[in-house]
Formats: sequence, structure tokens, C-alpha cells
Amino acid sequence: MTANLKPTVSFDIDAIRADFPILDQQINGHPLVYLDSGASTQKPTQVIDAINDFYLKDYSNVHRGIHTLSQRATDRFENARLTVRGFLGAASEKEIIFTRGTTEAINLVAHSWGRTNVSAGDEILISEMEHHSNIVPWQILTEATGANLIVAPVDDAGALDMAAFHARLSAKTRLVAITQLSNALGTLTPLEEIISSAHNTGAIVLVDAAQATARLSIDVVGLDCDFLAFSGHKLYGPSGIGVLYGKQSLLDTMPPYQSGGDMIEKVSFSGTSYNELPYKFEAGTPNMVGADGLAAAIDYVSAIGLTQIIEHETDILQYATEKALAIPGLRIIGTAEHKAGILSFVINGVHSTDIGTLLDQQGVAIRVGHHCTMPLMERFGLNSTARFSFGIYNSHKDIDLAFAALEEALKILN
Ligand code: ALA
Repeated sequence: MTANLKPTVSFDIDAIRADFPILDQQINGHPLVYLDSGASTQKPTQVIDAINDFYLKDYSNVHRGIHTLSQRATDRFENARLTVRGFLGAASEKEIIFTRGTTEAINLVAHSWGRTNVSAGDEILISEMEHHSNIVPWQILTEATGANLIVAPVDDAGALDMAAFHARLSAKTRLVAITQLSNALGTLTPLEEIISSAHNTGAIVLVDAAQATARLSIDVVGLDCDFLAFSGHKLYGPSGIGVLYGKQSLLDTMPPYQSGGDMIEKVSFSGTSYNELPYKFEAGTPNMVGADGLAAAIDYVSAIGLTQIIEHETDILQYATEKALAIPGLRIIGTAEHKAGILSFVINGVHSTDIGTLLDQQGVAIRVGHHCTMPLMERFGLNSTARFSFGIYNSHKDIDLAFAALEEALKILN
């Protein structure tokens, strides 16, 4: 599909790092250590080349033109949809809606499915560890409809309290919206149990897979989730592109979310009929170059292998966790048995912002703050944490450099 694709065929950290030219630079006089992949991953040459190639050779608008460039652009866009379908194991490409990202995908469901299926007294069940993008759309929906937003708590380790989850699930629950992997804690949720319990009570399930797709193999048919959302930029692909997977039986019954060009079949002043799936939900000129870049990213991680990726990141997380535990006064926030990719922490008497600033001065990029999870921070009695989040390119050397920088920072801050 995408041009110039030269996948790395096995997990070789040096070869993988060579695929990410941005990593090979000095920041503030120190080698860059990038530990902010939870916010956004860096892009391999294969993705950058695909985007470049699209603009250099095949760019035009899609679905509208009879001319060759438009047909080529359309082919690349629709081939990207097929790549996403294969990546998620979806039954049909009609179930793959391109969006701007996870946030727009969740908003699409909250508006389109929500406004037609949720009424006063109904309940939407989420967890305490959701990102704001999986909280606020449901708050707006429940406020507009008179439904109630119900929250399942996490325990002190940051794992979902499953007894409390089951207690909150009832015949009133219309939808469960749940993260697969918490961006602030790294907690993995037991999706199979959540989905089968929800279905047993008649609820449907939306999975926020924004942090999951870069490291976990997903099979939407096997999982039996009803909706699943993810973003390209957290999967080594471009920003501004994401995906909503939805079961066709649900998408078929849902009204359009946005309206305009491409989502219509016929327009007249007496009324409009809508296009078939997936175009009914893709109003306006889509991000076809982004979709093609996302497909290149999917090809990239698939060539390396998600099994190898999660094994590598588990090793890096374990290595970093051991180093963190050796630092006096450091408390890891998020110690669930099942976790991946994220190490959040606070240090007694030290503000997270100061840690982030002093690490940046030594070339180490991390995120500090509430990580768009203010209710979760409140549950742990915090305003913010410092967060190391990992990607396929992180090495033990990165972790050594980051902790050496942290020790230097603590000499100044303590
Ligand atoms: N949601 C992104 C993060 O976790 C921005 O950093």
C-alpha cells in the first residue's frame, strides 16, 4: 500500500532507534531521552516517507474526482481503511470511521448514538481513571438527556474495583465507556469481563484504546466491544487522524454526527438522504494523507510485532520501576498488577513541575501535570504527577540517563 515502506523485520532496538531520526539530537546540551510517548509518539521514517510520498506524487481530493490523481488519492485513503480493518480484526471496512482522533470518535458516539438511545433515568457507566475525553462527552450527554453518569472507582493500586463495577452495572446502564490502558496510571482493565458483564445486562461498551493500540494486539470481534476509539499520533502515526470502530448493526441505526459534503446520498431543499457506511460519518474532506500515514504506522508496528513490542516495553517498565523504588520519598502512582507503558510518580516535598523542568534541562522529555485525569488525581489526593511513558524506541540507556537526571534534579530540589 504505502510507498517506501521498509519495515524493520525483528526487534532490534538499535535498528528501531535508527528509524526515528528525531531521537538523534541534543536537547539543552544533552542527548534527547524521549519519555513522553503517552502524550504522543515519535514518527518513524517509514511514516514520514509515506506522507511525503502522498504529497509529492498522489495528492488530490478523494471520492470526488474523475481524474487520475483523485483516483490515486482515493485508493490510498481506502487502502488505509482496509489496513485499519485488518489491524483491529473488524468484520467490514464499513465499520471503520476515520476521525480526528480518539476524542472526536468518543464525541461522535456520545452525540449520535447517545442522543437517540439515552433518556432520563438511564445510566452511563465509566471508571474513575478515564481521560477527560471519556468523561466530559458523557457528562454533556447525561446533562442534556436527564440520564445519570455513574463512576466505578479504582482501588489504591489504581486497578479497577471490579466488585464496585459489577455493583454499579444494572438494567439502567445503557453504555459502559472504559479505557483499555490508563494514560495516567498504566493500569490495564479486564475488558473481557467488563464487556461480557455489560452485555449480560443489556448495555453496550465503548473502549478507549488510545494508549493501547501502540502495544497491544486488538481483535474487536473476539473482544465483542461495540465501539472502540484510537488515535494515530499515539501509534507512531500522524496527528489529526484517528478511528472509530463500531459494529455495523449499531452504526446503521445512528444518525449523522456532522453534516456536509461526502456524507450525503442526495440533497434537495425538501430533504436529504445520507450516504452508506462509513461515509455517513465522514462529512467534509477527510484527512486522507493522515489516514495513509496511519496505515504506514500500522504496517510498521505490525512488521515488528506487537508481541515483541509489549515484551520490550514490559522489560523497560520493570527496569524503570526498580530504579524508581530505590529513590527515597518516591511514590509510584499506579501499581496495579496488570499495567503497561506508564510510570507515574510523586516525590515527597517536590513539585512535579520542577521535576519536569529540571529533567528537560538535561535532555529528558517527560510529562507532568494531571494528564487530563483530574478526577483520578483527586482520588489519590494529588494535583499532578511526573510521568515517564515509554515507546518502542526506549532503551535501558534511556532509563539510566533519565534516573541520573532525576538524581541531579533532586540534589537541587531537596
Ligand atoms: N492524553 C495524552 C496524555 O496522556 C495527551 O498525555
